[in-house]
Amino acid sequence: MHKFFITTPIYYVNDAPHVGHAYTTILADVLSRFHRMAADEVFFLTGLDEHGQKVKQAAQKQGLDPQAHADLLAPRFINLWKKLDIRYDDFVRTTQRRHTRVVQGVMQKVYDAGDIYLGEYQGLYSVAEERFITETEHASGQFRDVKNIQEKNYFFKMSKYQDRLMAHIQANPDFIQPEHRRNEMLGFLKQPLGDLCISRPKARMDWGIEIPFDHAYVTYVWFDALINYISIPGYLSDEQKFKKWWPADVHLIGKDILTTHSVYWPTMLFALGLPLPKTIFAHGWWLMGESKMSKSLGNVVNPLDLMEQYGVDTVRYYLMREMVLGQDANFTIESFIKGVNSDLANDFGNLLNRVSGLIGKNHAKTVPDPGQLTAAEEQVKQQALLLPGLIQPLVSAYKVQEAILTVIDFVKLLNKYLEAQAPWKLAKTDLPAAGRVLYTATEGLRIAAIWLAPVMPAKTAAVLSILGAEGTTAGWGQLKPGTVLKEHPPLFPRIEVAKE
Ligand code: ME8
Ligand code: MG
Repeated sequence: MHKFFITTPIYYVNDAPHVGHAYTTILADVLSRFHRMAADEVFFLTGLDEHGQKVKQAAQKQGLDPQAHADLLAPRFINLWKKLDIRYDDFVRTTQRRHTRVVQGVMQKVYDAGDIYLGEYQGLYSVAEERFITETEHASGQFRDVKNIQEKNYFFKMSKYQDRLMAHIQANPDFIQPEHRRNEMLGFLKQPLGDLCISRPKARMDWGIEIPFDHAYVTYVWFDALINYISIPGYLSDEQKFKKWWPADVHLIGKDILTTHSVYWPTMLFALGLPLPKTIFAHGWWLMGESKMSKSLGNVVNPLDLMEQYGVDTVRYYLMREMVLGQDANFTIESFIKGVNSDLANDFGNLLNRVSGLIGKNHAKTVPDPGQLTAAEEQVKQQALLLPGLIQPLVSAYKVQEAILTVIDFVKLLNKYLEAQAPWKLAKTDLPAAGRVLYTATEGLRIAAIWLAPVMPAKTAAVLSILGAEGTTAGWGQLKPGTVLKEHPPLFPRIEVAKE
């Protein structure tokens, strides 16, 4: 048994959650569920980043103090995760005492070790990104809300660890994934790395964690938020727990926060003498593309809006099967309909409808006996037995889309097998042979449902319940002959689109 510690970014509470936040969180949930399936012990951590100028400004706009504002927004995230069936193990809010006191402990430690100093800062600051930026970055025009700031501040000696970080990235090809992000960071590290400004004078910005060795200053965002990855698993508070979980197996992030995670964070960990996370995986962005809307679908611009109508699992499925991890993906209503109709309605749903229809009609709704498998059944069975060896390595390599499509390919194979064997014809001349075919196809369906469960927990649970196969695993032959199938409404209806 392995442990698997997975994290998402902790999201800013400056606004309500959107599909980007939902995407990373669902992805973490899906990976967690795959690992639980493999009997790994999983710790899935998510939460909220509540300090900083951005949050304070958002609160001011509402006429609220920042904590009240955060308290108002936190349930919006928590409720959305509940609705999306996210099974996290802990939820951090950076204003919690269990976190702030570890941030203070970390600061004191790094200060005592001589890696934090007071200096004069002058430079460009991006409020939107909550960090100081270089002239080159500013010139790129990608940063909004840029201010020129000059003040005395505390600095972390990040530059000291540049060579060590470079060497670590070079020696550990899995550390930053995917590969093109790793190359991007190796390129970035060819330039001399500056030190990191980690404080704000309270007089200018007080919504942060007070610095233990200078009460006129607070720290926030990166020297606060990143530390959640160690504060929650018990750093400086629960040695046993921390030893069990750290280092993290993966920090899942979007590409927008790659530098902070693969440069700031590792150098902070070096300063603390802690091992680095095994992997930082940066996925691409969801872009809300232009799409031709049909009247019946209205003006849907956000996949989350599709939840009420098409169900949570359908949206989870779409998001997971559509994005190739590492690349950007475009949300269009057309791609949603196409993906759902082809994989879920035509392949998976169709298989369910066929086997349950035929077993209902010709076999008194009762799972028939498998009998003696012929070469055709053996082929299906062998394919089912190959699935763990195909899917688990894909999941470990963060190729979730390919893992899903591997299951769908298996479903397609089952449908082809049904076509070729035609149990509806066989039933007229050789009922046991028809039974053997239906047993095999239904057993394949059950196994496909098990493999899709991390992506669609509720829908696949419904399939397993219809088959009386709750609690079964991916091994062949667990479907029980003699089980009476339950009645069910169509679980994966086709989305019909009215012609424009
Ligand atoms: O950066 N497509 O919080 P944040 C895909 N608090 N993913 C997206 C996305 C999109 N269009 N938009 C957002 C912060 N995301 C800091 C993090 S961590 C110690 C501190 C996801 O609310 C993606 O995971 O801006 C991205 O990295 C994250 O939301 C940024 O969330
Ligand atoms: Mg952001």
